[in-house]
Amino acid sequence: MAYRNLVQLNHPLVQSYMTKIRDKNRSYFEFRQYVDKLSMLLAYEAGKELGLKSSKIKTPLAPFNGTVIKDEIVLMPILRAGLGLVNGFSQIFPEARISHLGVYRNEVTLQPIRYYFKFPKLKDRKNSIVYILDPMLATGGSMCSAIDEAKKTGVGKIVAACLVAAPEGIKEVRKYHSDIKIFTCSVDKKLNNVGYIVPGLGDAGDRLFGTI
Ligand code: PRP
Ligand code: URA
Repeated sequence: MAYRNLVQLNHPLVQSYMTKIRDKNRSYFEFRQYVDKLSMLLAYEAGKELGLKSSKIKTPLAPFNGTVIKDEIVLMPILRAGLGLVNGFSQIFPEARISHLGVYRNEVTLQPIRYYFKFPKLKDRKNSIVYILDPMLATGGSMCSAIDEAKKTGVGKIVAACLVAAPEGIKEVRKYHSDIKIFTCSVDKKLNNVGYIVPGLGDAGDRLFGTI
């Protein structure tokens, strides 16, 4: 099924690394390494949202009218599993500032609980872009909460980036934030009766940090 304002990566490397991290026998340190690679590929693809400005430079041989990224970039990982995407994104966007948003979902109600937010001072918020990072888009509650917070900052553009998205979560984001583009490595089948993505990859935070 095609979703509006959603980009699903279909590169063979993405498919292969996703299979590696879905494997329940993968160790937490191997899991982290593949998430790192996937987040670089995701950042590359999501980088298509960036604006450019002209930049006149001189090569060793001649003047050159080039282009550089115009926007100030802010990475906003949703704690804690979103931290797993920060290294890859900051390899691709080395000048990015990093905001931290603490949200966890109540295990029974599945409602998002916000507990921390720190956002950088920016020169020009209108010409800034926030990448909200979270490996899992399940019910969509955490992502919608993060988008609400990001919108309050007044930044010009907000993009959601995840590894696995459930149809239920995509629909939730579409319902409340139809203007926000989602980049994902996979759209999975469904949520199970306790709000986990199937086939998914389990609890992303626990698998990343070895807290299973
Ligand atoms: C996971 C995941 C997302 C959220 C997705 O975090 O990293 O933030 O669940 O679920 P939702 O779409 O239904 O809101 P979790 O709450 O388990 O916290 P953690 O990152 O601290 O493990
Ligand atoms: N959070 C996770 O870490 N995994 C899921 O499948 C759903 C929410």
